[in-house]
Amino acid sequence: MLVTAQRGSQILKEGGICGVPTETVYGLAASARSEAAVRAIFYAKSRPAEHPLILHVADVATARQHSVWDARADALIDLWPGPLTLVLPARNVLSVITGGHPSVALRVPNHPVALEILAAVGPLAAPSANRFGRVSPTRVEHVEAEFPDLPVVDGGPCKVGVESTIVALLDGLPHLLRPGGVSLETLMARLGPVQVGGAIAVPGSLPSHYAPRAKIELIPYGTSGADIPAGAPEDHARALYDALRSFDARGAQTIVCEMADSVGIGVAVNDRLRRAAHR
Ligand code: TXA
Ligand code: MG
Repeated sequence: MLVTAQRGSQILKEGGICGVPTETVYGLAASARSEAAVRAIFYAKSRPAEHPLILHVADVATARQHSVWDARADALIDLWPGPLTLVLPARNVLSVITGGHPSVALRVPNHPVALEILAAVGPLAAPSANRFGRVSPTRVEHVEAEFPDLPVVDGGPCKVGVESTIVALLDGLPHLLRPGGVSLETLMARLGPVQVGGAIAVPGSLPSHYAPRAKIELIPYGTSGADIPAGAPEDHARALYDALRSFDARGAQTIVCEMADSVGIGVAVNDRLRRAAHR
């Protein structure tokens, strides 16, 4: 059910949950102060309780209040607001948000409606607004289809279209946990070496995730011979989840999909395609 940003903020302040737009994908938000509201998100999504949520904040100052900040984080904050999530040691965060982990994932989203709601409500715990394991929503209609009974604020189609990049800044090297809207090249330019894959077990990195109902067959970039103009990886990212959903809506059995060029955000597109194709 569509609500205004003002009404959505009210619902969140009163301990309800509400769909909220961001530049990456739509989130299903709860006030980070309300344990009951955060629990309601897990219930609505059928999400396992040990999968921690991202804590969305309005600014760096608020992020610092909820984490043990360090110089490496300082080197990245010009990328905020934006599609970058930092995992830092947690401070003053409900354990229902961190899934009991000693770290917290923090992000300042780059969307005027999200920032308006954050200013009105305070920090918001929000996963993507899809049922567990399904494709993330990039349009308000996707959220309405997933959760017909829940309020959602319309912020238009998401400009990035895939989830944020997640970097852990804990002991040892910075660790890329999920490729996303900010490229590895951009991270390395600021941080130096970044560890990719391996070590930390991250819920949400399940091999099968972001899956449409149809079976997906992937073909390598540049090999389809299809007579379609090669789009920029940014265009692939923006269109990806809506395309997967619309094939499902048309009852497609199999989706044959050419992968993106593996540069910049194309790495994130290919990551999601591989997970969507995994059965
Ligand atoms: O772009 C995005 O990040 C979107 C929008 C709504 O902000 N959110 C999103 O949330 O994708 P979600 O819940 O679908 O994915 C959050 C990811 C999960 O893979 C989770 O495991 C990871 O963040 N995460 C959260 N807290 C963590 C922590 N303390 N340590 C490691 N990973 C964490
Ligand atoms: Mg998700």
